[in-house]
Amino acid sequence: MSTKFLITMVILANIFAMEQVLGMTSVTLHGVTDTLPSEKEKYKVALETAAAAFQDAEKLFADPTFESRDGWKVDQSNDDDDVVYAKHTKEGTKMVTVRTVLAGKVDDVMQETWTGASGLPEWNPNIDFASTIANLTDHVDILTYGNNDILVVSGREFVSARLYRKVGDYYIMASRSVNLTDVPEKRGKVRAWLYLAAARFRADPTDPENKTLTDVVMHVDLKGFLPKLLVNQVVGKIMLMDAEQNKKHFGEIKQKKDEAKKAANDAA
Ligand SMILES: *[C@@H]1O[C@H](CO)[C@@H](O)[C@H](O)[C@H]1NC(C)=O
Ligand SMILES: *[C@@H]1O[C@H](CO)[C@@H](O)[C@H](O)[C@H]1NC(C)=O
Ligand SMILES: *[C@@H]1O[C@H](CO)[C@@H](O)[C@H](O)[C@H]1NC(C)=O
Repeated sequence: MSTKFLITMVILANIFAMEQVLGMTSVTLHGVTDTLPSEKEKYKVALETAAAAFQDAEKLFADPTFESRDGWKVDQSNDDDDVVYAKHTKEGTKMVTVRTVLAGKVDDVMQETWTGASGLPEWNPNIDFASTIANLTDHVDILTYGNNDILVVSGREFVSARLYRKVGDYYIMASRSVNLTDVPEKRGKVRAWLYLAAARFRADPTDPENKTLTDVVMHVDLKGFLPKLLVNQVVGKIMLMDAEQNKKHFGEIKQKKDEAKKAANDAA
């Protein structure tokens, strides 16, 4: 064995050992690597959970039966042509999905969804509180948020890890519950379990500058003591209400932007 080879091996072994010592955890998806800073190593499972959720979401969105709604059934709808579809899962809880067109360019809609999470209670009356527990990397964080009482279901709260990626010319964001021992359950709320919440944001081909085609998927166990049948009926309603609030919110943001642009033009 040459000396040079041996030295190379020793260097490589040291780098590997250093990563072990520093406990650097990373995930690479679509050519982008998220590496946990060493002081956040306690969130290793959260990072891996978010990455797994992303991969599940990506697979789901790419499945031809998702596009054709094969195996999905209409669950809820409104006068505004929003339709929530549902399908049963092996966990015994329903998975629901809805497609809406949101006002705004796809990059702006993604950006607002990512950075605006803690502002949710300001415009979504279904949300009681929301905040970031930790920012793990530029594309991964951990959120906690709670619903108000909805229909027969009393307030639920969630602690979940989120991750997003640009995939070609669109985005996927995915989220899944994590067990964090240092985040106690909020008083008066039931901690629910999010198997998967995900969104895909694509430029609407009819108006890519102004509209974003958005698919949202949610698979949740609301927990608590209500009969499964009853709870299952509520999940689709919650999704429909959220879709309506989201459309309204992005409509308002777009309107404000357009007005500001017009005012600037008029002033010029
Ligand atoms: C996470 O980052 C956002 C900015 O993107 C910041 O507003 C927020 O305070 C940060 N939260 C924590 C817990 O560090
Ligand atoms: C989370 O914690 C609960 C309660 O300790 C446990 O039953 C469950 O299996 C855990 N789930 C995961 C994915 O770690
Ligand atoms: C997009 O919106 C702008 C105003 O913000 C408008 O000038 C433009 O015509 C719109 N594009 C299409 C394709 O409607």
